[in-house]
Amino acid sequence: MKDILQELERRRSEARLGGGQRRIDAQHKRGKLTARERIELLVDEGSFEEFDMFVAHRSTDFGMQDERPYGDGVVTGWGTINGRMVYVFSQDFTVFGGSLSETHARKICKIMDMAMQNGAPVIGLNDSGGARIQEGVASLAGYADVFQRNIMASGVIPQISVIMGPCAGGAVYSPAMTDFIFMVKDTSYMFVTGPDVVKTVTNEVVTAEQLGGASTHTRKSSVADGAFEDDVEALSEIRRLFDFLPLNNRDKAPVRPFYDDPDRIEDSLDTLVPDNPNQPYDMKELIVKIADEGDFYEIQKDFAGNIITGFVRIEGRTIGVVANQPMVLAGCLDIDSSRKAARFVRFCDAFEIPILTFVDVPGFLPGTGQEYGGVIKHGAKLLFAYGEATVPKVTVITRKAYGGAYDVMASKHLRGDFNYAWPTAEIAVMGAKGAVEILYRSELGDADKIAARTRDYEDRFANPFVAAEKGFVDDVIQPRSTRRRVARAFASLRGKNLSNPWKKHDNIPL
Ligand code: HXC
Repeated sequence: MKDILQELERRRSEARLGGGQRRIDAQHKRGKLTARERIELLVDEGSFEEFDMFVAHRSTDFGMQDERPYGDGVVTGWGTINGRMVYVFSQDFTVFGGSLSETHARKICKIMDMAMQNGAPVIGLNDSGGARIQEGVASLAGYADVFQRNIMASGVIPQISVIMGPCAGGAVYSPAMTDFIFMVKDTSYMFVTGPDVVKTVTNEVVTAEQLGGASTHTRKSSVADGAFEDDVEALSEIRRLFDFLPLNNRDKAPVRPFYDDPDRIEDSLDTLVPDNPNQPYDMKELIVKIADEGDFYEIQKDFAGNIITGFVRIEGRTIGVVANQPMVLAGCLDIDSSRKAARFVRFCDAFEIPILTFVDVPGFLPGTGQEYGGVIKHGAKLLFAYGEATVPKVTVITRKAYGGAYDVMASKHLRGDFNYAWPTAEIAVMGAKGAVEILYRSELGDADKIAARTRDYEDRFANPFVAAEKGFVDDVIQPRSTRRRVARAFASLRGKNLSNPWKKHDNIPL
C-alpha cells in the first residue's frame, strides 16, 4: 500500500516539474514565473484543484512517442479568488514551449465546459509557441474547439486573458474573443504573423516588441486592455478586477463592505469646471471623488484618452463608468473612443453592471481621417450599445453636451433612467460661435452684432434649463452632492426590469 501512495507522490512530483529544472530556470531567467507559480499567485492560497495532471499527448510522429511529459504543456483546474470560484488554465512554456496539442486543447475545453455548467469565470494565462508543430491539423482542430467555446461563453461567463509570453498566429484569436486581455510588459507579445513573415511579405523590419508588445497593444491597436510591469503585478491586478465582476450573467456582482458615506459631500467639485468653457479639467478627479474609497479600476487607460472607462463601487456595488475626458481632444468623440466605450458598455450590459456616464462632449471630431475611417459606423456602435443596454443608467452632464454626441452619451432618449445636469451644463446643437456663424452669416462682417448674437445664444442655450424644462434632464444638481444623488439613483434602480424585444441577435454596426 505504502508503495502505491509513494508512486502517486512520485508521479505528482514529476508532473509538477513540467519540462524539467533546466527549462524552469530558463523561464525564471527571462523574468517569467512558471505556469504553476502563476496559478499560486492568482488564486487563494491552497484553493487550487488541478484537473488532468497526468494527461499526456498521443502523438507518435517525429519521435514524440518517446517524450510524453505529464500535463502536456498546460495546467488546468479551479480555485477561488477572495472566496469566489474561478476556472483557470495556465500554459506551461517549459513543456514543448507551451504549444497547443490535441490533448492540451482538450484540457482547456474541459474546464471551459465546467465553467459554463457551473457559472464561473475563466482566466487563461497564455504563454505558448502556438500550434504543436508535430501534430499538424489535430492542433488546429484543438484551437477551433477552444474558439467555439469562447464564442458560446461570451456574455455568459466573464473570460479574462493574460498574455505572459508568446501568443502568435491563430492562437491570438482565443484571447481576442474574451472580455479582457492584459499583457506583461517586455515578456509578452501577440501578433498574427511574426517579424520574419512581415519582412518577407512587406519588407518591413520590425521587432517582436514593436510589432506586438504590450505598448503596441495598449496604445496603438487597443487589442489589450492594460499592461503590467511583471507577472506578480499582473496577477494581483487580475485579482482586483475579478472582485468587481459577477460570476456569470445570472449573478449579481459581489457587494463589498464599504467604509465611505454614500451621502459624502465633496465641496471641491463645485469648482471642478473652470469659468472659461474652453479650459480643460480632469474628469478622473470627479470619478475618483464619487467612488467608494476613491477606488477606480481603469480599462484601456492608455488608449483613446478622450474617453475614460472603468469600474468603481458605490455603496459597495460595482458600477461601470464611462466619461468624456476634456483633457484629451477636448473630450470629443471619435472612432477610437466610440469603439472603446461601446465595447465597455456592452460588457456591463451583458453582465448586469449598472452604468454611470459623465458627459462633457463638444461633439464628434471633424476631419477626413475620421470620415474615411468610418466614424459614422464607429460612432453608431456607442449609440447602439447605450440604446440596447437595459441595465440601470445614470448620466450626469457636467458641461458640454452638443449635437449628436449629446444623444449618444446615455441621454434620456436612449432610456437613461436618471439624467442629471450640473448648473454648468450647456446642452445644445452646437457651441455658440458655430451656431451664430451659421444662423447670422450675413452679419459676419459686423463684430458687435455677432458678439451680441453670441451672447443671446449663450443666454438661451449655455445652461441646462432648456433641457430641464422639457424633462430631458430630470434635475439640475449641485456638483458637491453628485455622489449622494448618484448613489440614491442607483439604489432606486436595484429592482429595474427592462427587456428588449425577442430577436435572434441584433445587427450592431461592426
Ligand atoms: C512544438 C515548440 C513550438 C511549437 C516552441 N516549441 N514552439 N514545440 N510546437 N509550436 C519548443 C521548442 O522546440 C523548444 O523545445 C521549446 O519549445 C522552447 O522554444 P525555443 O524556440 O527554444 O524558445 P524561444 O527561443 O523562447 O522562442 C519561442 C518561440 C519559438 C518564439 C515561440 O519557439 C517559435 O517561434 N516557435 C514556433 C512558433 C510557431 O511558428 N508556431 C506555430 C504558429 S501557427 P526544447 O525541447 O528545445 O525546449 C499557429 C497556428 C494556430 O499557431 C492556428 C489556430 C487557428
